[in-house]
Amino acid sequence: MCANDARGSNAVVAEIVARMADMPGALLPILHAVQDALGYVPEESLPVIADGLNLSRADVHGVVTFYHWFRRTPPGRHIVHLCRAEACQAGGQKALEAHAKASLGIGYHQTTADGAVTLEPVYCLGNCALTPAVMVDGQLHGRVSPSRFDALMTECRGESR
Ligand code: FES
Repeated sequence: MCANDARGSNAVVAEIVARMADMPGALLPILHAVQDALGYVPEESLPVIADGLNLSRADVHGVVTFYHWFRRTPPGRHIVHLCRAEACQAGGQKALEAHAKASLGIGYHQTTADGAVTLEPVYCLGNCALTPAVMVDGQLHGRVSPSRFDALMTECRGESR
């Protein structure tokens, strides 16, 4: 991130902190709001959040690193969530997961080298009748076979050009 980007994102973070700091248990909602706004929680934002909540930077860092939901690097252009919960596991999730990781060449919490796709795990998308379930950029897909997954990724990459 260049200095200007850091200044810009810190202004966004400062606005979020100012708006939400008085909420009870404000840290987690603030971290969610930062990730919603920026796509991740930048390292540079941690002191801004800590100062705004009268916490130590280590406290904020501890929470950000404890929850895998929070990304610490910018995501790809498309975010793909694979459901790893029980019903999906019984419905072919493991084979789909192996295929997704191999075909994208990445593991969970990683982004493809072309910056197109970030792969994330999720634990139940509320689509347990149509397993395995996948969410692509917030859109739910059920009964996703490996070939359907490939088609979804081709669609993603086609749209990013
Ligand atoms: S277990 Fe995967 S959608 Fe519920």
